[in-house]
Amino acid sequence: MLPSSPRKPRAATTIAENTKAARAKTVKPVLKWAGGKGRLAPRILDKLPEHIGTYFEPFVGGAAIFFALVGERRFERAVLSDKNPDLVTVYRALQADVDGVIRHLSRLKYDEEEYYRIRAAKPRARAAKAARLLYLNKTGYNGLYRVNRAGEFNVPFGRYKNPKICDEPRLRKAAQALQDVRIEVADFAAICDEAGPGDAVYFDPPYLPVSKTARFAEYFNQPFDLPEHERLAQTFGDLAKRGVCAVLSNSDTPDTRRLYRAYKPQKVQVARAINSNPKARGAVSELLVAVNAGG
Ligand SMILES: C[S@@+](CC[C@H](N)C(=O)[O-])C[C@H]1O[C@@H](n2cnc3c(N)ncnc32)[C@H](O)[C@@H]1O
Repeated sequence: MLPSSPRKPRAATTIAENTKAARAKTVKPVLKWAGGKGRLAPRILDKLPEHIGTYFEPFVGGAAIFFALVGERRFERAVLSDKNPDLVTVYRALQADVDGVIRHLSRLKYDEEEYYRIRAAKPRARAAKAARLLYLNKTGYNGLYRVNRAGEFNVPFGRYKNPKICDEPRLRKAAQALQDVRIEVADFAAICDEAGPGDAVYFDPPYLPVSKTARFAEYFNQPFDLPEHERLAQTFGDLAKRGVCAVLSNSDTPDTRRLYRAYKPQKVQVARAINSNPKARGAVSELLVAVNAGG
């Protein structure tokens, strides 16, 4: 376990200066992603060490925790990965060519016909591909990501008042945060082999279904089912043995409690942001699991 390094004493500043400085440091996610961790972020950040060598986020999605850590300057290096290549393309394009992404995105309008035209398009250039996913994420139904068996995006048009399609300052801040970050399409287990003592990993897997009738989350038509969750618990255990800080969030189910019993999961209440059923958007209880952690 890493000894937590004390925060440096700060010079006296006014509240206005502090608020302004905090806002300037905040980097916000550029994608809304199912299971986005915006609201749970403070609890997860408390579990992570003050000083991290390499920070790994192997189910990166909207990267809420990575962007929060950037603001706090908590790590030296970062490795972001996900099995979804479209998602990884967005982060790589922002890293390499934010101007190109903004150029493509700023031409796109919120309009149903335009939505279906963009949805059917298959751009080749990286910046155009990234702009397409950012656009579909902002204007598609509930910000969902879903593809059919042929791998084609099939989320219908979403109804919004005035969606901000191209938030240039936010995109530029994210691009800045992504400089020098390694971004990979990878399975979670393979990437975790690289973590050692002094590093930290945050896992936000597709959640276990909370009821017997609910289905396992599917990615590319492959369910992230119980054997996948068992494989993840094995990876978590390997990191624990190697002295790596690992933090994981998941739904509060008997299976999650059983798989992580040795690490004493902690119950937390979370407001859910994305759910196709508006009645199911209230608070739910989730579990946070941490080992070799900071708090
Ligand atoms: C719940 S989301 C992550 C949410 C994210 N942490 C956020 O703040 O928005 C789960 C992610 O896991 C990815 N995924 C599914 N199976 C995976 C696997 N075997 N290895 C790596 N990523 C996987 C999905 O593509 C998806 O982006």
